[in-house]
Amino acid sequence: MSTELLFLLGTLAIVFYIWQKRTYSFWKRHGVKSIRSLPLLGNTREFLTGRVPFFEQIQKFHQAPGFENEPFVGVYMAYRPALIIRDLDLIKTVMIKKFQYFNNRVLQTDPHNDALGFNNLFFARSPAWRELRTKISPVFTTGKIKQMYPLMVKIGKNLEDSAERLGSGSNIQVKDLCARFTTDLIATIAFGLEANALQNARSEFFYHNKAIFSLTLSRAIDFAIIFMLPALAPLARVKLFSKETTKFIRSSINYVLTERERTGQKRNDLVDILLAMKRQASANSEESLKTIDLDYLVAQAAIFQTAGFETSSSTMTLTLYELAKNNDLQQRLRQEISDFFGDEDHVSYERIQEMPYLSQVVNETLRKYPIVGYAERECSQPDEGERFSLDPYHNMVLPHGMSIYISTLAIHRDPQYWPDPEKFDPERFNPSNRDSLNMDAYMPFGVGPRNCIGMRLGLLQSKLGLVHLLRNHRVYTCEQTVDKIEWSPVSPVIASKHDIVLRLEKVSG
Ligand code: HEM
Repeated sequence: MSTELLFLLGTLAIVFYIWQKRTYSFWKRHGVKSIRSLPLLGNTREFLTGRVPFFEQIQKFHQAPGFENEPFVGVYMAYRPALIIRDLDLIKTVMIKKFQYFNNRVLQTDPHNDALGFNNLFFARSPAWRELRTKISPVFTTGKIKQMYPLMVKIGKNLEDSAERLGSGSNIQVKDLCARFTTDLIATIAFGLEANALQNARSEFFYHNKAIFSLTLSRAIDFAIIFMLPALAPLARVKLFSKETTKFIRSSINYVLTERERTGQKRNDLVDILLAMKRQASANSEESLKTIDLDYLVAQAAIFQTAGFETSSSTMTLTLYELAKNNDLQQRLRQEISDFFGDEDHVSYERIQEMPYLSQVVNETLRKYPIVGYAERECSQPDEGERFSLDPYHNMVLPHGMSIYISTLAIHRDPQYWPDPEKFDPERFNPSNRDSLNMDAYMPFGVGPRNCIGMRLGLLQSKLGLVHLLRNHRVYTCEQTVDKIEWSPVSPVIASKHDIVLRLEKVSG
């Protein structure tokens, strides 16, 4: 080996040594208790080697031995310091009281080459996020959802027909059925499109929806960057949607927007709001703001489809799984469904909200399985004025850009808030037990001004699917049903590693 090469390698080794010493002493220098880390991988070895999904990695940080009484814990996401917040009061401070410092998410895609990923409501950054949220919120008012309810019921009845077609006594892939239902439902109510996922095994809409959440190795790497190392997103040119999915979403939304403009039809749905945004832009007096990029509109539609279908179908699937394992609970729910249907073929919008046991059951599913698994925010410190500090817990002023994570999964399964947390027990949410509930420890839809915009719709569609499915059918465990759910390590949200298979039986009489 030449002397020059030896010298170069020596210099690199020294630079690396100094860099890693400095990087991994960040929390120590600030006097914050942190979990022991490894060079380069930080504390995220298990996630980076594909052993656990991201939300479980965050759960493990929350539950790290020796930190049980700490309000927060310092960790390193590979080389990036991040703070895990455990204390419920501090969570409220970050997510609600001091939201002005925390209105952005940590995750990011490539701002220059990923219009669909970067601009949608979930990923949007302030101040664009606030304007977007105000404009899109009207889609989710009670009045709007109520107007859409008859369309939702129609899809509910299609779900009943699908169950009928599958046949009594068959073993079914529950997630597949529920995801077809939510695909059809969101496509109808948001875009006025018939996705036909329930009727058509090869529905294009369903194929693309599924593709978003089934990760190949290269997509898994993209997602690791988006979630954990967003600063690398422009360099790695990562995109939220694959090329094929982008092409499909773009062309279908473009078609819907053009058709609506041509016919002038109004449906009070997301498409109407997107067209209003387009008209507002062209009426702007400033020349540079006169046009709104088509991709900007498509981005909003794409996130509705994505956020709306997977979360609710998982809620339904996991509810059915728990009910199959707890037959007496299923029987009680079926009795309520039967009482509320009476002689009708559907339950009205008002009545479905009033079904007490159904609410208890769905709330408990989202307690045991908070589908997103964690919440995160990035700290934005102002150039001037008061900066956010960890006071009264600590005098540290958080650096601008610091990532904050909250493990909803760990909190939802913490016995100090939820006794016997592994037990599926809808009685926790019985109104008579209200006094013993700590609702600060319940956050399946996130917390504060940046919580889930689709909460009401998500709950309603999950409930609607369940009542139509369970009205005439019963679900049982079978030899293919997993005993215990293991998380899929490649899914960005809570999902079972193995298919959830249940036996479907027609209820007679
Ligand atoms: C059971 C169903 C659902 C669950 C469990 C769920 C959960 C969540 C969670 C945990 C967040 C992050 C909140 C935070 O960071 O504080 C979120 C955000 C979001 N959800 Fe949902 N969601 C559901 C259904 C839906 C539906 C049906 C839609 C739309 C059709 C939707 C659209 C969104 C959007 C756009 C955001 C980002 C909001 C923003 O950043 O302003 N979600 N959801």
